[in-house]
Amino acid sequence: MRVLVIGSGGREHALCIALADDPAVTALACAPGNAGTAVLAPPPYPVEGIGPGVTAETSDASTWQPRSPEQIAAVALGWAADLVVIGPEAPLVAGAADAVRTVGIACFGPSREAAALEGSKTFAKDVMTAAGVPTAAAVTATSQAALETALDRFGAPYVVKDDGLAAGKGVVVTADRKVATAHGEAVLAGGRPVVVEDYLDGPEVSLFAVTDGTTVLALQPAQDFKRIGDGDTGPNTGGMGAYSPLPWAPPELVSDVMVSVLQPTVDEMAQRGTPFTGLLYAGLALTSRGVRVVEFNARFGDPETQAVLPLLATPLAGLLHAAATGRLADHEPLQWRSGAAVTVVVAAPGYPDNPRTGQVVRGADDIQMRHAGTVRDADGQVWAAGGRVLSVVGTGPDLSTARRAAYDAVHRVGLEGGQYRSDIAQAAAEGRITLP
Ligand code: GLY
Repeated sequence: MRVLVIGSGGREHALCIALADDPAVTALACAPGNAGTAVLAPPPYPVEGIGPGVTAETSDASTWQPRSPEQIAAVALGWAADLVVIGPEAPLVAGAADAVRTVGIACFGPSREAAALEGSKTFAKDVMTAAGVPTAAAVTATSQAALETALDRFGAPYVVKDDGLAAGKGVVVTADRKVATAHGEAVLAGGRPVVVEDYLDGPEVSLFAVTDGTTVLALQPAQDFKRIGDGDTGPNTGGMGAYSPLPWAPPELVSDVMVSVLQPTVDEMAQRGTPFTGLLYAGLALTSRGVRVVEFNARFGDPETQAVLPLLATPLAGLLHAAATGRLADHEPLQWRSGAAVTVVVAAPGYPDNPRTGQVVRGADDIQMRHAGTVRDADGQVWAAGGRVLSVVGTGPDLSTARRAAYDAVHRVGLEGGQYRSDIAQAAAEGRITLP
């Protein structure tokens, strides 16, 4: 099977590593990719300024994207892909999976209409209401007056969300009314609706499910860390670390969420004539009133994927191909390795607001590294080219050993001004997470 992965982050490097491990894969490519993916999944075309031989000054792989769904489809066709796996949300929301399927190639990822589960929070709420899926009460505001009314109604802590895609920066949770209002006004000023929600207490969980539009197979749950600083302080980021499994989660969590969230959502999408195929990512809060959906995403999470995939024993390409071709009902149950995995993101100085790139990255070719914003020059030297530079993975028989393995490797990375959180998975490893 010839598999083409679209994207350039740590998630895509993790996907490439797992796909390369599947004996069914005969060729693997990643576009646009990064310095890590290029080693085992070179771009399927010569692209000026991308790939081996570029200099850090002339290239920034993290900002290049195939320009349109049609371009992705053309690349897949030109490379004779049997399966395309689309990593990020933006091409999915733009219709890349539709374009790939139109040229007759199997694609792991939802259609443009189904990807609206991530592309519009208002749409996702509508689907959840229709499907009876538990989530926070919410109001969509399109004017300043409606925003103020909604903030009055829900009260502090305020949860204010951009309705559309915002690369992890669309959500503000704050006790400060002025901050809540300012974020809502900024979203409105950008011409988008703003969603104001009830606050959900309790720890959050990321649960991924592979689906062909009918059958749903849940992966092992993970938890991610969105804020830049230790103790969940500072601004939101694309994600600073993750771990799996969750020793503190109720044992029946996955089976319960399958019944209350995943299957009803997939069934509702099918009933609407817009079946969701690909990866349904349920962001959940385990609240004092039970499990609630915080948000849906239409693709693998980053960096949770870097922690979940090392534990998956089932060959990944076969699983994703079965989902892409409507054969998931025939797929065997997923097999998992015992133990735990922890990933710690090493980010550029100034990330997330103003990342400084262009520094040499030492230790980047270690087996524990998942590359994100990196490029490689003609001498084989790796350079930082994006806000999140590396995602460092440690595995072990339990969370404590996996954590230690991850941080030992983090300490071997050389990135001037690099920043990382020192508390990824710490509370879980120390048994300090309690359910409300
Ligand atoms: N880890 C959050 C996300 O992938 O959106």
